[in-house]
Amino acid sequence: MSTFISFEGIEGSGKTTQLRRLAENLRRRGGEVCLTREPGGCPIADDIRRILLHPDSRAMVPRAELFLYAAARAQHVEEIIRPALELGQVVLCDRFIDATLAYQGFGRRLDRQLIEDLNRQAAGGLMPRMTLLLDLPVEVGLRRARDRNALAFDAEGRFEEESLDFHRRVRRGYLELARRHPERIRIVEADGTGDEVASRIEKICSTFFGEAW
Ligand code: TMP
Repeated sequence: MSTFISFEGIEGSGKTTQLRRLAENLRRRGGEVCLTREPGGCPIADDIRRILLHPDSRAMVPRAELFLYAAARAQHVEEIIRPALELGQVVLCDRFIDATLAYQGFGRRLDRQLIEDLNRQAAGGLMPRMTLLLDLPVEVGLRRARDRNALAFDAEGRFEEESLDFHRRVRRGYLELARRHPERIRIVEADGTGDEVASRIEKICSTFFGEAW
């Protein structure tokens, strides 16, 4: 059952909740699951995450941001993802290389070739076998994300403070990536109840895992 699946989507797309639901579902079916996220997933990458997402990092220039995401990814791939795959686990990762293309490429407008080269170097060529892109209108996602942050002190709000236009570019970027990589990226309509979205994901996974599901 060993495989690598990433989840992507704009802020408030519900991917973290859906990732946890899929992990439970896979464990019930006897799979060993490694649930992880980017940026982060291990102590060094978690430290980088704090720098990247803290509102005090507002002055960070786009290229510095890009290199920090790549640094966090290099550590995470070597320390967590590859070892888990070698143990035969299903790795479910909350964001991976597509996030850098969507946010730093389409969002910040950094050079696509540079990002693709860095992604390849940082991940050592590792790619998800399947990427689930949870798609919904930006206004709906941001409303959800802001309601969530209003409930708890949040030291990770830097991207939620970006303009509506930035988030629209990120969403368009993700959809463009899905168009370029239909063999890997599946679009999941995420504007519905948690149960509705989970059943869409279950359907995709039953085809993807086939006999092993
Ligand atoms: P999260 O809120 O889904 O955990 O993601 C953290 C933030 O980091 C989110 O706003 C997207 C952003 N991000 C990038 O800009 N580039 C990347 O490569 C990754 C992995 C995340």
